[in-house]
Amino acid sequence: MRVIVTGAAGGIGRAAAIRLGRDSASREGKPAHLLLVDVAKEGLEETAALLRAEHAEAKTQVADLTDPSLAEAVMNAARQAFGGLDALVSNAGIIQRSSLLNLSLADYERAFAVNTRATWLLAKAAHPLLAASRGGIVATASISAHHPTPPLGAYSASKAALIMLVRQMALEWGPDGIRCNTVSPGSTHTPMTDVRYADPVQRAVAAQRNPLHLIGTPENQAAAISFLLGPDAMYITGVDLTVDGGLSTMLMPASGFGDPWTR
Ligand SMILES: NC(=O)c1ccc[n+]([C@@H]2O[C@H](COP(=O)([O-])OP(=O)(O)OC[C@H]3O[C@@H](n4cnc5c(N)ncnc54)[C@H](O)[C@@H]3O)[C@@H](O)[C@H]2O)c1
Repeated sequence: MRVIVTGAAGGIGRAAAIRLGRDSASREGKPAHLLLVDVAKEGLEETAALLRAEHAEAKTQVADLTDPSLAEAVMNAARQAFGGLDALVSNAGIIQRSSLLNLSLADYERAFAVNTRATWLLAKAAHPLLAASRGGIVATASISAHHPTPPLGAYSASKAALIMLVRQMALEWGPDGIRCNTVSPGSTHTPMTDVRYADPVQRAVAAQRNPLHLIGTPENQAAAISFLLGPDAMYITGVDLTVDGGLSTMLMPASGFGDPWTR
């Protein structure tokens, strides 16, 4: 399998790269080829080293995906390195703490550039390669796409737009054999959320908010991403797979309708 993973310097992107490398190697009986993309060079090299230790071929490309010209460059790098592409994991994302009243224009533009536009540009550039391989795309959205999440500024809106963008790709590119899906993580302990979940008290409070009483791991998300890109999902396109320990089912208890989890 020949894969591009963005946001691969840590967290969900790193876990997805490792999981895809392993699943692909065990399925195909030969090492996977991965192009790891991120703005953070050091973390990118760490992920590549982890993959190489498992015999995968891992190449890295430092790229700030707010630059629209880099999507073609990333795709050219994959074409040159692997001769084609089977999967794109568009996972790079940012959160910014701000109310909508205080959010600057630059931060609004940045949220949409990274969380939404980069997926469109990368997917568009990948289209000929993925059509040739009948490959797939998974983008990392968020449960915030479904539920407004103050004070994360434009984050929810940018992720909601991402889900619709990928559903539209599924419709337009299904006839070309390209499957396009999103994964929506809930509370997942990664560098992005470390401030919150590394603290045992905050972690315990957050865990109690979902029915499983667990904080998710990057590996939980990676499993969903690999499933959606693998042969078991060959008839699945245009879906958003929520991986949140059931957090997004908690509206009615939060609205005061008692405790449905009592036994
Ligand atoms: N952790 C959670 O609870 C959670 C919940 C919902 C959605 N997500 C989404 O999951 C994805 C992965 O996040 P994570 O939790 O692993 O956090 P993370 O911060 O570890 O990963 C995000 C990665 O994106 C990279 N990135 C940011 N801006 C970039 C840019 N301009 N160009 C290139 N790379 C850039 C970062 O350097 C980082 O490595 C994100 O899209 C995030 O929005 C995470």
